[in-house]
Amino acid sequence: MDYDEPLFFHVIQYAHHADRDVVDMVSGNPDWDPPAALREGLHEYADAPTAAFQYPPSDGLRELREEIAERRNVDPSRVIVTIGGGEANYLAMARAMERDAGDEFVLTDPVYPYYPGKAQMLGGRVRMVPVHENGQLDMDAMREAITDETVCIVVNTPNNPTGAVYPRETIEELVSLAEAHDALLLADEVYDHFDFSGDFESALTIDSDHRIVTSSYSKTFAITGFRVGYAVFPESLVEKAKTRHMLVNVTGARPSQAAVLAALQSTGPEYYEDVRDSLRTRIDAFCDALDAAGADYTRPEGAFYVLARFDGFPGTMENVKTLIDEAGVAGMPGEAFGTARDEWIRFALCTPRAQEAAERLAEYFS
Ligand SMILES: Cc1ncc(COP(=O)(O)O)c(C=O)c1O
Repeated sequence: MDYDEPLFFHVIQYAHHADRDVVDMVSGNPDWDPPAALREGLHEYADAPTAAFQYPPSDGLRELREEIAERRNVDPSRVIVTIGGGEANYLAMARAMERDAGDEFVLTDPVYPYYPGKAQMLGGRVRMVPVHENGQLDMDAMREAITDETVCIVVNTPNNPTGAVYPRETIEELVSLAEAHDALLLADEVYDHFDFSGDFESALTIDSDHRIVTSSYSKTFAITGFRVGYAVFPESLVEKAKTRHMLVNVTGARPSQAAVLAALQSTGPEYYEDVRDSLRTRIDAFCDALDAAGADYTRPEGAFYVLARFDGFPGTMENVKTLIDEAGVAGMPGEAFGTARDEWIRFALCTPRAQEAAERLAEYFS
């Protein structure tokens, strides 16, 4: 079986060892603060009795699952707290393969590279469907690609790397297609708190036994190192996913879950609004500077990535390394996300130096 290592770490390492100052726009590691209640929750946990340091329930701390279930308007029995959104996606994709309803994963192109990697690792075949220039799904192409061999359609909204937010009709149609072909729709919503368009609709609002929704606190609370995410399964699919989660991990980490629970209980809407506001400012500044650099780019409707294309400078790994060495800006090569955007470079706006980076790009390409 063949599966590839995602390229992120390779580029990060290259940028880290460069001989010059480099603005790192490679990874989606937030540089902003988590909510105050998260740190307080963690401090409090450190002083808890020893019993609180032992295994939590395998599917997650009961109160955390209840809190998530209430917010997502589902029964707590359908929620599994996972080791980040990464494990939630793995459980969903593995569950799709276990149903013996085919072996093909329908993914978008460009794609978050961990999906094809996971699909291949699970023994599935991958079919990539190019999206429209603006990042929205090409539903004619999706309809054609989804067949009775499809086990799972994997989509991500708000989207990494395109920044697209899919309208409700798109999600509705995907659910119908999954139902019609006895497949599962996996909607990865890890950027659900980063919608700038106001159009984001969770797939959970469309009731179906054929869709799984995953999310994570990595980005929501700026804690990619805590490793807390979750999956919401249909009742008919959840038990086996819980068993897989238990066999692979025993359970998740309790301090992280306790801190996330504290943050959920005590964080008001201002936290999320402030983060979105500061990201909007970054997006505007970065896009203005890209205009000055004469680049094509997509202004994100959600998440915090910008895809940009510079004339005569395709987004290959080699060119990305040249940009690191000669312009002092590190992005991700478009070719890491499939073939549809291999001319493009993805920049993560997880640095207060986003504007400076864009100015460096403008200077380099002028
Ligand atoms: C689309 C998407 N899904 C899942 C993840 C993984 O999230 P987590 O850190 O919660 O595993 C990421 C991380 O960048 C992502 O961009």
